[in-house]
Amino acid sequence: MAPPKGCQQYADLSEVPWDIQKYYHQRFSIFSKYDEGVWMTEDAWFGVTPEPVASTIANHIAGAASESKAILIDCFAGVGGNVIAFAKSERWKRVYAIEKDPRALACAKHNAEIYGVRDRISWYEGDCFEILRNELAGLGQHSIFFASPPWGGPGYRSDTVFDLAKMQPYTLTDLLYPFQELTEDVVLYLPRTSDIRQLADRPGQGSKTTVIHYCMEGASKVGRAFSTEPSGPNQIKGDLRLLRCFYLSLKILSDFAMRKAAGRGKYR
Ligand SMILES: C[S@@+](CC[C@H](N)C(=O)[O-])C[C@H]1O[C@@H](n2cnc3c(N)ncnc32)[C@H](O)[C@@H]1O
Repeated sequence: MAPPKGCQQYADLSEVPWDIQKYYHQRFSIFSKYDEGVWMTEDAWFGVTPEPVASTIANHIAGAASESKAILIDCFAGVGGNVIAFAKSERWKRVYAIEKDPRALACAKHNAEIYGVRDRISWYEGDCFEILRNELAGLGQHSIFFASPPWGGPGYRSDTVFDLAKMQPYTLTDLLYPFQELTEDVVLYLPRTSDIRQLADRPGQGSKTTVIHYCMEGASKVGRAFSTEPSGPNQIKGDLRLLRCFYLSLKILSDFAMRKAAGRGKYR
């Protein structure tokens, strides 16, 4: 099937705009089934979560969430990198995907079809804050909210420490307050250089926050992870090539810690 306007399936490097070529070379670590007809928007190349990272995140959340949580809501679904992994985990009674860009949403549905999980996902086109408030608020207590928001473009890479109060178009506060009105269980996927003091210092939070860095190494494309205590930005270092920073909510952390202590966690 030919992709609709605004969605592409590049078959050859010569078709690919120069600024996307670097990402195109990584297409099979972004979607292992890329050649089966995966669709992307031009923006998605910069923001999609690569499959090994998405699968590791999905496994971590599946292992950390309390059994009373049956629903996973991906608030910024993009072209489906994360939401496909959540649906594939089979941990959730239902997975919801919200995306405001209709072209990205068309790609996500199509890509989910390729991975055989389209029917396990309920799809919503529009602004996640409005949809959560007006249509899905009742699900909050049964749900984990996952958010991989835009970070304001590739400029975040030039900051040694990324100020989450200046993240565009949504700051840390813009994201957390509306989500936390509906559920305690919020998982954010943030730039690797995020100032983790801002996560640790959030007002009203009395206990520890866990930050996990997800890594992919050069050509091996192996997803790896390690966790740190959130005491300062200097902990974002090491010889692994860090890909992104991932933030687990306090409630998830406590469930996660208990499961890990009991030897039942899926943390690797
Ligand atoms: C970083 S991308 C998400 C990538 C996604 N996790 C994936 O792997 O494909 C962020 C997405 O959020 C969408 N977005 C931005 N603001 C939104 C909003 N208020 N509600 C829903 N989607 C929004 C953008 O259109 C973009 O596709």
